[in-house]
Amino acid sequence: MKKKKILFFKITGLLIFLILLSGGFSFWYVNKTFLTFENGYDEQTNFSELTKEGYTFFDRNNNGKLDQYEDDRESIKARVHDVLSQMTLEEKIHILKGGGMASGIGITKPGGIPGAVGTIVPTTRLGIPTIYLSDGPAGLRIEPTREGEDKTFYCTAFPISTLLASSWNKAMIYEVGDAMGKEAEAYGIDVILGPATNIHRHPLCGRNFEYFSEDPLLSGLMGAAIVNGIQSNGVGTSLKHFVANNQETNRLLNDVIVSDRAMREIYLKGFEHIVKRSQPWTIMSSYNKVNGTYTSESNSLLTDVLRDEWGFEGLVMTDWFGGKNVAAQISAGNDLLEPGTNRQWKALIKAAENGELSLNNINRATSRILTLVFKTKKMQSYNYNSTPDLKKNAEITRNSASEGMVLLKNEDVLPFSDINNIALLGVTSYEFIAGGTGSGDVNEAYTISLEEGLSNAGFDINNVAQQAFDTHRIATIESFKRPGGIEAIFTPFKPTEMTYTTEQLHDIVTTSDIGILTLGRNAGEGGDRLEKDDFLLTEAEQEMIYKITEAFHKENKKIIVVLNIGGVIETTSWKNLPDAILLAWQGGQEGGNSVTDILTGKVNPSGKLPMTFPVNLSDHISNDNFPKNPKMITLEGMVKNLIFPPNELPGAQKVRDEDYTHYDEGVFVGYRHFDTKNIDVSYPFGYGLSYTDFEYQAMKVSLKNDTINIAVTIKNTGKFSGKEVVQFYTEKLNSEINRPTQELKAFTKTKRIESEAMERVFVKIPIKELSYWNEKKNDWDLEKGGYNIKVGASSRDIRQVELLNL
Ligand code: BGC
Repeated sequence: MKKKKILFFKITGLLIFLILLSGGFSFWYVNKTFLTFENGYDEQTNFSELTKEGYTFFDRNNNGKLDQYEDDRESIKARVHDVLSQMTLEEKIHILKGGGMASGIGITKPGGIPGAVGTIVPTTRLGIPTIYLSDGPAGLRIEPTREGEDKTFYCTAFPISTLLASSWNKAMIYEVGDAMGKEAEAYGIDVILGPATNIHRHPLCGRNFEYFSEDPLLSGLMGAAIVNGIQSNGVGTSLKHFVANNQETNRLLNDVIVSDRAMREIYLKGFEHIVKRSQPWTIMSSYNKVNGTYTSESNSLLTDVLRDEWGFEGLVMTDWFGGKNVAAQISAGNDLLEPGTNRQWKALIKAAENGELSLNNINRATSRILTLVFKTKKMQSYNYNSTPDLKKNAEITRNSASEGMVLLKNEDVLPFSDINNIALLGVTSYEFIAGGTGSGDVNEAYTISLEEGLSNAGFDINNVAQQAFDTHRIATIESFKRPGGIEAIFTPFKPTEMTYTTEQLHDIVTTSDIGILTLGRNAGEGGDRLEKDDFLLTEAEQEMIYKITEAFHKENKKIIVVLNIGGVIETTSWKNLPDAILLAWQGGQEGGNSVTDILTGKVNPSGKLPMTFPVNLSDHISNDNFPKNPKMITLEGMVKNLIFPPNELPGAQKVRDEDYTHYDEGVFVGYRHFDTKNIDVSYPFGYGLSYTDFEYQAMKVSLKNDTINIAVTIKNTGKFSGKEVVQFYTEKLNSEINRPTQELKAFTKTKRIESEAMERVFVKIPIKELSYWNEKKNDWDLEKGGYNIKVGASSRDIRQVELLNL
């Protein structure tokens, strides 16, 4: 017995020892592979300042001489050429991958920026600085607090990209980009990892909130405006995720099987518009494959299309840990591997040694990286002060959010008149959601809820409803804890929804003037959304909406539904119930104020839908080929994938919509399908109401130098001043190919037109934009013949049509 005990203790002791050892080993391995493997490559920050022939410069390589690359009177091209000629092969290989993930999780060397998720590593000997890359599309994602510092580093949570696209307002989006760029500049960030411009192929992609639209022209023009705004500050962008990254499920391995025509006309087109209009400093290749090749290893995408055809001048970086074969990536034109691992570093050295990676390709990638480094403020020895104008940016956020919210329904209720006491129902009225989760999240200092927004505007918030919420909150407090830190990345905030008793509702209705019910959703990176309880309302929500609308209407009071969501939900089954529906999207940190501005009429809504709200999910053809049982990625899962990168399953074991996804719908995405097949929708593409009405008059179409010029007069025939989004679609008559019946080819937004006043708007469409991709010729083809040129207030509300013969 004694012996057995001793044996037991020995075995247990050994097991504990082994566990500790393996734990220690794992920690050491993760640290040395993904976090801190850059020892010996510290950034030089103290340079001697020399003056030669009246010119003062930093002697970056400490040789007492003025080198061409140290001379900022020289062109960037000449400086890069010079520094490249001074770099050793080892230094060149070193710069092809980032410095690891340490900074992304807050571990930095002195002078670092905790939370900046990627870096371009310094070249110590030559005094080339560290360059910081940080997410993302709705504002910067850096850590808001730093150990040992009282100062905070909060960033502005701007509205999600889908909301920005719903504004259809290029000038305003430029302004948002400009504010983002200024904030990045103030915090020492050199490149913002955004905007993201993948197409909303299916309503349930978990990252749709980070993307603009189901239409490539709208995506492209919105993206170009934001890139131009950011880059006007000398801060770069990373346009992502290039390309066809339209689902989160199995995103590291998914192979998109798609026709060339759909690629050209839909998935590449938005990127093409942005590259040609704004030259983003960088592009981020996506995780997925396209027709069997990882995009980060695709010479045809990264070199033939992007550079040779479109004239892209910047560098391409991988998505974080994306792709498999480093030599194939650099050779294809994916110049920078982010965030960089020790494994990749070793693999690059090996590939250079065994000839798999040529010196030419190493030089090409290095010089593209250096070109970016020389463009940054860092090379101008700019000292950032970490004091952005958060107040001004909050104002910009507030205004841009109200410009992109979409009024879906309004039956004589908005804007408010004679309202004092407002009953707020549903948990998200009190816990507004500013944006989605994942890398698109922002660490903002505060989020204005609807409750705060309405109080700020002087309304009384109904006590009975508020108390019901407070009691519910305490009872379900766990679900109200907002996930923080790394956990927040993969854990959407989902507070438990309320239920109301008939008595409670009676008390609420009789003590208030009006009710607002908010329905909220939160999703993000690492998981697609589900049809049940997400696209479709949950049972609790359905019950709430029926009971609440009934209770208010019984007392002849009105009820408004506010949708605080990041992606499309089902609306057909319940939209007849409330008196008004405002699609508030996720409006950033000032969301509650922005909604209030619309409800009170301070702002006349002018947003229009950048995608269709279908009746059923299955009305989308893409629904036949979209993951039906998506699982959310977890932190543990992500770390496991890092240590043991998942491998492809053998052919026969591959699972449809996970390992590969067929884009059988071709170019018939969103309204291109619904309008062609005349399928009923809940709200069409381009739809949105205003407090006023607009008349479209005197459309004139003419053709000059291969450009279609269109003019139309928009008259405000209602009582409120307001803006109108004017949309131009083209339709090829008697086409010989299977084309969408109409496609958006231009749009504009009027200025604020006073009641009874009018504005004549003008747009231009180059005729080559009417071409389709001819797969036989492997080129664009312009069909001759008749085209209907249409102007409308939505894709289903065409106001005037003119025939044009080409
Ligand atoms: C996302 C990118 C993001 C990067 C860095 C990746 O998981 O796909 O959009 O920029 O992480 O956070």
